[in-house]
Amino acid sequence: MLASLLPVTLFSYGSAQDTSLTTVQAAFDSADIPTDAGVTFDPQTLLEVSFIQPSGTPPVNVTAGNAVAQNATALPPVFGDMFANPTTNVSQFTDTKFVLAMFDLDAPTPQNRSLSQIRHFLGADFTLNQTDGGSLLFTNSTPALSEYVQPGPPPGSDPHRYVFLLFTQPTNFTTAAASAFVNASTPITNFNISVFAAEMGLGNPIGGSFMKVGPAPSSNTTSGSGSGGNSTSGSNINANEAAGGAGNVLGLSMTMAFAMALISSII
Ligand SMILES: *[C@@H]1O[C@H](CO)[C@@H](O)[C@H](O)[C@H]1NC(C)=O
Ligand SMILES: *[C@@H]1O[C@H](CO)[C@@H](O)[C@H](O)[C@H]1NC(C)=O
Ligand SMILES: *[C@@H]1O[C@H](CO)[C@@H](O)[C@H](O)[C@H]1NC(C)=O
Ligand SMILES: *[C@@H]1O[C@H](CO)[C@@H](O)[C@H](O)[C@H]1NC(C)=O
Ligand SMILES: *[C@@H]1O[C@H](CO)[C@@H](O)[C@H](O)[C@H]1NC(C)=O
Ligand SMILES: *[C@@H]1O[C@H](CO)[C@@H](O)[C@H](O)[C@H]1NC(C)=O
Ligand SMILES: *[C@@H]1O[C@H](CO)[C@@H](O)[C@H](O)[C@H]1NC(C)=O
Ligand SMILES: *[C@@H]1O[C@H](CO)[C@@H](O)[C@H](O)[C@H]1NC(C)=O
Ligand SMILES: *[C@@H]1O[C@H](CO)[C@@H](O)[C@H](O)[C@H]1NC(C)=O
Ligand SMILES: *[C@@H]1O[C@H](CO)[C@@H](O)[C@H](O)[C@H]1NC(C)=O
Repeated sequence: MLASLLPVTLFSYGSAQDTSLTTVQAAFDSADIPTDAGVTFDPQTLLEVSFIQPSGTPPVNVTAGNAVAQNATALPPVFGDMFANPTTNVSQFTDTKFVLAMFDLDAPTPQNRSLSQIRHFLGADFTLNQTDGGSLLFTNSTPALSEYVQPGPPPGSDPHRYVFLLFTQPTNFTTAAASAFVNASTPITNFNISVFAAEMGLGNPIGGSFMKVGPAPSSNTTSGSGSGGNSTSGSNINANEAAGGAGNVLGLSMTMAFAMALISSII
């Protein structure tokens, strides 16, 4: 019901999203993501990621490897799916649940990744739901294992790679078991997606995407560095990240609420 109220055109063929598995896989490879994240990335489906804008301007879409402005990432991402072949029968996925993860490979900077991975979102029990308009959205109704934390690269940093991965959820997966490994007290720094996937028996990701996000322009004014602000110190990490996201209470269901409010104000 929620999904049917979401923007009917959010994920559709011919739009700005990823439409080719080979393109996505090549983008991952050329950005060294499988190596740096320790995952085998052989996607079977297209994970679509979009950021709804509080201002009501069009959602900002992720295509594998594109640059996204830091200030466009305030709200948690909305996840969708597009089959590489539009005639693929969606029924094959309707009994499946999914785990979705988002993490930063480049903290505090791409040159010094000692705090990586930073866990920006981890959620389970997602199902794929088709909207009236034909978009396929991943929705869940259980709390995130790790709530969304907005990207916040430190001043002067080169853009970071923020990776989104989609896994099928094993039938023996339970939130209780997962929360033994990741819960609200688990530091978001030095997360290891391949270890978590192994612990929970997730196997290899079946889809993914990534974006590059640099520091907010305004963060340069607080850099305090006299030589170009090329900070390699973790002390400049965004307050959200430093606080472990404790202050961020926006879950995906809140995204849906925002989206619905926006849609009703647009229509
Ligand atoms: C993102 O994709 C949606 C759906 O195709 C489209 O309506 C929107 O304009 C796109 N956003 C941008 C910034 O191009
Ligand atoms: C993000 O900042 C740029 C200026 O750097 C501004 O043009 C744009 O409107 C801002 N976007 C949002 C969503 O605030
Ligand atoms: C889709 O797949 C399901 C399950 O395999 C099957 O029951 C259904 O008839 C298929 N639908 C179409 C349109 O092929
Ligand atoms: C999404 O699909 C699942 C599985 O088919 C179903 O149980 C759930 O009610 C659906 N959710 C919505 C919001 O339509
Ligand atoms: C929370 O996660 C940590 C690992 O980060 C684990 O040591 C701890 O036992 C977990 N807490 C609960 C209540 O499961
Ligand atoms: C994640 O854990 C694996 C297995 O222990 C290890 O090989 C890899 O280096 C770790 N990755 C990071 C970023 O620490
Ligand atoms: C689920 O099964 C897989 C494979 O048999 C195993 O690796 C994993 O530890 C199990 N998970 C739980 C939570 O029992
Ligand atoms: C912020 O600093 C970086 C690194 O010095 C620079 O590349 C970038 O252009 C600066 N941005 C603004 C808006 O001044
Ligand atoms: C920061 O320093 C690194 C290593 O010295 C360099 O490769 C990178 O281009 C610098 N970034 C900026 C924004 O100056
Ligand atoms: C890398 O970043 C860590 C965390 O901020 C910092 O403690 C360390 O000094 C940095 N290493 C280098 C070589 O700059």
